Amino acid sequence: MAISLNHTIVAATDKEASAKFLAEMLGLPAPTVLGHFVGVQVGDTSLDYLDTDQPITQQHYAFLVSEAEFGHVFEHIRERGLDFWADPRRRKHGEINTWDDGRGCYFDDPSGHLLEIITRPYGSGGTTASNPHPLIAPKLRLGEHESGLTRQDGASGGGALARAESSDQGE
Ligand SMILES: [Fe+2]
Repeated sequence: MAISLNHTIVAATDKEASAKFLAEMLGLPAPTVLGHFVGVQVGDTSLDYLDTDQPITQQHYAFLVSEAEFGHVFEHIRERGLDFWADPRRRKHGEINTWDDGRGCYFDDPSGHLLEIITRPYGSGGTTASNPHPLIAPKLRLGEHESGLTRQDGASGGGALARAESSDQGE
């Protein structure tokens, strides 16, 4: 049996609002209450939102979507007037990226987690894509990608992931 990620817990300031936000944005089935969690099923994985009164450390959740789905999610972003960025450092406000010759963008969930939608997995365009992903073509797009998670002001930012990736990217 292939191993899959069955569920993960997502800290939230308001679990119902966060779960509803994700389900609506991605066009997924309505969230399900699971004891003290509110779960959203994304493929094989349930994102189980849990309220916390502690400061929330930003996490990053990236969703692979089709071109049509990207269009629908992006429509929701525009309808709601949400901020969106082409990069995780939030430098390119109001833009999307075309890494791996697909489309991608970043936006925040209600608790401040950084969400991303992409139509191509990272690196799937290889180095011959007209716009290679910066993580596989660092000399073309040095320091532009995930190290942006360190951008989070205060608190603990992107944690181990950000530290690991920022060391990869310099900056
Ligand atoms: Fe990402």
